[in-house]
Amino acid sequence: MQKEGRTRKIGVLTGGGDSSGINAVLHGICLEARNKGIEVIGFLDGWHGVIEGKFMPLSSEKTVTVVNQSGTILGTSRTNPYKIKKIAEIKKQMKGLNLDGLIAIGGNDTLTVASRLADDLQLNIIGIPQTIDNDVPGTDYCVGFDTAVKNAVEAIHNVRATCNSHKEDIVVEVMGRDSGWIAAVAGLTAGAEFIFVPELSFDADLLVEKLKLRHEQGFLSNVIVIAEGVREFDHTKIDSGVDAFGNAMLGGIGFSLRDYIQTKLNKKSRAIVLSYIQRGGMPSSYEVFMDLKFGQTAVKLLAQGKSNLMVAYSSGIFQPVKLSLACGKQPVKAEILQMVKELTL
Ligand code: F6P
Repeated sequence: MQKEGRTRKIGVLTGGGDSSGINAVLHGICLEARNKGIEVIGFLDGWHGVIEGKFMPLSSEKTVTVVNQSGTILGTSRTNPYKIKKIAEIKKQMKGLNLDGLIAIGGNDTLTVASRLADDLQLNIIGIPQTIDNDVPGTDYCVGFDTAVKNAVEAIHNVRATCNSHKEDIVVEVMGRDSGWIAAVAGLTAGAEFIFVPELSFDADLLVEKLKLRHEQGFLSNVIVIAEGVREFDHTKIDSGVDAFGNAMLGGIGFSLRDYIQTKLNKKSRAIVLSYIQRGGMPSSYEVFMDLKFGQTAVKLLAQGKSNLMVAYSSGIFQPVKLSLACGKQPVKAEILQMVKELTL
């Protein structure tokens, strides 16, 4: 740990799947760095940029122009420095660039690497949880989640209109990997009749029975929101295999379920896989507000000489937690699962 007041130059990287709101975090970082007279450089394409020493200078004059822009101006990648054995390069680059600290913005994979590096190389690293999946433990909020939910809700409303007009059911597949945060929150917000998440068991035949009953009652168009990571059904129709971190690549359960329902009910139904639509688009106001604070807090922590921590938002306040906490996964909270059980069919 370094002494307070000695922070002169820091780096920042964005790793893993992008989301809308990352650029707002960068702006929060640059604004607080400006207050403290700290120079900021942004590594390009996640850990890849750190390994290769590829970066761009960042300033609040630059980030203010992209604060409402989705994606990340730094680029991202799923580079896993441990897998490709490039750890020494990271230490070398940080030393060569005279960096007093590094801010890693990303999900479980990026932050797990950050935590290991902080331990193995004694580097000053602060993590910021960023994933539309909202599944980083230790924090109630991850950068990108609110906008992903907003995008999914808009899409569900849009497709419901068509299904109502045509009197057909629609399956909407949302992202989230092994967690059902987007499915649960977006599904409830958009008034979906059925919501399926990996945290709860799924029975396709029971769904067919319930749909039959709905149709008999005259409700011919029902919205069925399903998380891509529900395991009890084929979720590899579009995507399969594993990424650099060993995560199963998911996609297609929506189409599989649509086919199943259609066959069993002998009635046309529709499906849409929202996929990357959820990760883009203008960030919500709540998103940008939260993200500015995530960025600002990370710089404050580094300036206080703190390291190996993650900025967490919990019980309504931003506070640091151990970075190693990010290594796990956080399922949807029990009270939200209860809402799914009670407020859907
Ligand atoms: O982790 C974010 C996420 O969007 C998941 O919801 C999804 O399963 C995965 O990334 C997709 O990853 P990729 O960008 O490699 O297609």
